[in-house]
Amino acid sequence: NSFTDTFIRAELISFVHDPGNGDTPKAGSLEHYGDGLLWLKGQHIHAVGHFAELSPSLPKGAEVLDYHDKLIMPGFIDTHVHYVQLDIMASYGRQLLDWLNDYTFPEECRFANHAHAEALSNAFLDEMLRAGTTTAQVFGSSHPGSVDAFFTACQKRQLRMLVGKVLMDRNAPEALMDGASGIADSERLIEDWHGKQRLGYSVTPRFAPTSTKIQMDAAGALLRNDPSLWLQTHLAENSGELDWVAELFPGSRDYLAVYEEAGLVGPRSTFAHGIHLDNGMRKRLADRGANIAFCPSSNLFLGSGLFDREAAKETGMAFTYASDIGAGTDLSGFGTLKAAYQVGQLGGQPLTAWQGFYGLTMGNAKALSLDSHIGQLAPTLEADFVVIDTQATSLLSRRISHCTTLGERLFALMMLADDRAIYETWAGGICQHRRDV
Ligand code: GUN
Ligand code: ZN
Repeated sequence: NSFTDTFIRAELISFVHDPGNGDTPKAGSLEHYGDGLLWLKGQHIHAVGHFAELSPSLPKGAEVLDYHDKLIMPGFIDTHVHYVQLDIMASYGRQLLDWLNDYTFPEECRFANHAHAEALSNAFLDEMLRAGTTTAQVFGSSHPGSVDAFFTACQKRQLRMLVGKVLMDRNAPEALMDGASGIADSERLIEDWHGKQRLGYSVTPRFAPTSTKIQMDAAGALLRNDPSLWLQTHLAENSGELDWVAELFPGSRDYLAVYEEAGLVGPRSTFAHGIHLDNGMRKRLADRGANIAFCPSSNLFLGSGLFDREAAKETGMAFTYASDIGAGTDLSGFGTLKAAYQVGQLGGQPLTAWQGFYGLTMGNAKALSLDSHIGQLAPTLEADFVVIDTQATSLLSRRISHCTTLGERLFALMMLADDRAIYETWAGGICQHRRDV
């Protein structure tokens, strides 16, 4: 056929299922080819396997890109991030509500300017690709133009991305509140962008304190009308926030109930943080198939609390891994896993590298219902992957040289690697980022 073939020889790692919590991955959960071949046709993966087994079937004269000293994994996925907060990362010393008022809201006001939104969309995508992240679920600002700019930038690069316009019609600066036009603008964006190429729309009420009941009900109606839409918001991040929600919604039995009553809790819903939940709420989220985005570097930065992975597992509540930039301190998936490990240690719940890298790739893809497109190195899936250089720094190189197992190597990467270890990032069958050597 007319699609271009690309052949890449490298070590390949990809998770098929959840590897479980053991020191070694459950049988059949991991595919690992020490000397593998990744065969692309156009934007998709055509074949994956041992180089020795696949090489006889290559077309005559095929040119093979030799990455034998590199490690290829599916592209990292970030289930919760604010592109409009890139420039306020590392703003000192506040917990959630003061941080929103002092830094976040003033910054988001700048996105009324379309040129600014375009510049930040591209800067953000450059940083994501530099970090090895090929798909994210993203908050824009409340200005619909911030989402047009972002979708346009993603479309040019042929990326698989979810984004939505923030809905907020109370308890915020005048310049950020959308009122009744918020829903109409969301509908227009859905019409223009949802399902176009690899783009999807995520309905985005910021969180319960900044939306009226009327606006949240209308957001729920959008989801009922089109079950292919996603939903993203925040839930139970900070104790001041919990008190405020209890005060604003005295008729609801708890914070989650506010979202349930509006019809916002479903299998395509992602709730960021979910730190301060009880098991009853976790089970309700599990029953609806929703997921919590665990944002460890953000939770440590804002002092929000320690996410309880064990309680999530016990109650069957799905959770994903996310950066939550600008409260997060690291765009890198490695950095997110390192912070998740540290949060886990403080709660007596250490994180294995198997769990971490499964989560960042296949686990996140599955929770977002994107696993038929991305998340694994497997035939028919989209060619979105990272080429990792385990010798990227002298320290990493030293440490890796002392590892004897794959588990040790992955763990060392999880704790010591950063964007310098991302040699290349491919998305849609195209090399979209190559590190400066
Ligand atoms: N809760 C409501 N809005 C936000 C936000 O922008 N960042 C974080 N971390 N939490 C929020
Ligand atoms: Zn957030």
